Amino acid sequence: MITLFPELFATFAETSMVGRGRENGALELVCHQLREHGLGKHRNVDDTPYGGGSGMVLRVEPIVAALEAVDASALETGKPKARRILLTPQAPRLDQACVRRLAGEAHLALICGRYEGFDERVRSFVDEEISLGDFVMTGGEVAAMALIEATVRLLPNVLGNDGSAASESFSDDLEGGLEYPHYTRPAEFRGLAVPAVLASGDHSKIAAWRREQSRTRTEGGRPDLLRSGKNQ
Ligand SMILES: C[S@@+](CC[C@H](N)C(=O)[O-])C[C@H]1O[C@@H](n2cnc3c(N)ncnc32)[C@H](O)[C@@H]1O
Repeated sequence: MITLFPELFATFAETSMVGRGRENGALELVCHQLREHGLGKHRNVDDTPYGGGSGMVLRVEPIVAALEAVDASALETGKPKARRILLTPQAPRLDQACVRRLAGEAHLALICGRYEGFDERVRSFVDEEISLGDFVMTGGEVAAMALIEATVRLLPNVLGNDGSAASESFSDDLEGGLEYPHYTRPAEFRGLAVPAVLASGDHSKIAAWRREQSRTRTEGGRPDLLRSGKNQ
C-alpha cells in the first residue's frame, strides 16, 4: 500500500483472517509512506490545482517515486513486479470476479489517494483503476482494506473451511447469485422459527431448499446478477 496514513493498516494487518494469512505466510502487507517520497525539505506530496478550485491535489512525482521504490524492492527480494492499482471512485467497481482475478496476482501495489485526488498523469503509471463503489470517501485506505480482505480469503490456507468461499454469494456454486439464509440456535426467537427443513436431517432436501432460496433472494434483491451473468 502506498499511503499517507500507514497507521490505519496497523490493527487491520493483525486481525482475523488478514492476521492469520500473514502469520502463515499466505500474504505479506507492506506500507510505503508516500511522504518519504515527498519533495523538498518539507517532503511535500501535494499542491494546488492548475486552473484553480478548492482542495489540494497529490503530485505525480512522489507517487511515481513510491511505485519505483516498490519495484526496486521487489527486484531486490526476488518478488514479481507489482500490478499497480489506483484506488479511485472514477473507475469500474470492485466485484467478486475482480477479487478472484486479483487473488491470482502475486504482488499488488495499491495506491491510496487523499485530498482532491491525484494529478491526472498518475494514471499513466498504473495498470488498473478500481473503485469501491459509487460514493466518495476521504481516502483510498478503506478501499484498499476492502480489496485486501476480499482477496485474502480466497488465498489457499487462509479461510478455515476451504469450502466456505466456494458456496458464498457471487460464487460459481450459486451461479453468481446471493447466498441462501443461515440460522443457528435458538430454534425459535420471538415467534421467528427456523425453517423446519433445516432441522430435518434430509441433506438433499436441504440442498434443494438452499438453491431455491438463493435463486429467490437473487431475483428479489439483485436481479442484475441473474441478467448479466456477472461474477460467474
Ligand atoms: C476525496 S477522494 C477524491 C475524489 C475526487 N475529487 C472525485 O470527485 O472523484 C480522495 C481519494 O479517496 C479515495 N477514494 C474515495 N472514494 C473512493 C472509492 N469509492 N473507491 C476507491 N477509492 C476512493 C481515492 O484514492 C481518492 O483519490
